[in-house]
Amino acid sequence: MSPTPTSVVICRTVAEMHQAVFQARSNGHTIGCIPTMGSLHQGHASLVRVAAERHNFVVASIFVNPTQFGPSEDFERYPRNVKSDLVILQQAGATHVFLPSIQEMYPVGVASTIHITGVTEVLEGASRPNHFEGVATVVARLFQAMLPDEAFFGQKDLQQTLVIKALVAASSDNAVARTKITVLPTVREHDGLAMSSRNVYLSAEHRQQATVLYRALVSARNMISAGETSRIAVEQEMLGTLSKVGDLTIDYAVAVDADTLRCPTDDLPHTIALCVAVRLGNTRLIDNMLVEHPR
Ligand code: PAJ
Repeated sequence: MSPTPTSVVICRTVAEMHQAVFQARSNGHTIGCIPTMGSLHQGHASLVRVAAERHNFVVASIFVNPTQFGPSEDFERYPRNVKSDLVILQQAGATHVFLPSIQEMYPVGVASTIHITGVTEVLEGASRPNHFEGVATVVARLFQAMLPDEAFFGQKDLQQTLVIKALVAASSDNAVARTKITVLPTVREHDGLAMSSRNVYLSAEHRQQATVLYRALVSARNMISAGETSRIAVEQEMLGTLSKVGDLTIDYAVAVDADTLRCPTDDLPHTIALCVAVRLGNTRLIDNMLVEHPR
């Protein structure tokens, strides 16, 4: 364990992490954790701030997890900025950062993976085979390392939060099963674009066009608030808004049940997740909004 200039304590191994957690627990502290892949922005910071209001030991992990990237995805070029991450973490109230190597997270010879069924099969799961297997596997390992009482995730990755809740509910491992999962709202740029580490990939023109995701979600939400009950009509509205942008390829734009992410009928469910995924140039962007039907 080494103190940094920013005074956030860095733990690089599971053993160092456990030592810090056991010490904190013996002092009566509770543990809040925020798993991340680094290149932090104010969306991540918002999770750290809430964790710091509730816990005296607040640990963020920074680990660009290779197993959740597909072979043609951006693992190699995923932005890495540990120095500025440490400043953001300290300002937001983190006390510790878990910064493991790939070897530490995936020791040679340990090859077990966790596969969650059901909610992983649609949307991101359909577009990115094995993505959620990588997420569930690494989050279980991160919980085993950080031993949190509560873990904080962003609604920005709505499907990921459902996968992690299912992971915790199904786990026979105490470190995973005992973790309380808290989901916090999406933090947006002033023009509505959801903050994301991948936004740095966008050219100036694409950055401007990227606001169309938020506009599509808002127009769908307004339609539902005004009484629209047809799922297809709402999805057409989102597709119509998104398709006005030239360079954009739509992966999906759906209105689904917020718990299952499915909607087999044309009748909108009571709690609706509006979910969109597009590609702008080479950059894949996702966003979502939860809406209660006024019925
Ligand atoms: P990452 O993309 O770094 O996100 C870390 C956490 O920050 C996730 O819970 C994500 O939903 C949240 N987050 C991202 N953008 C946000 C925003 N604009 N507002 C609020 N929260 C936001 O998600 C991952 O990393 C990884 O899949 C991980 C869970 C760490 C497993 O590798």
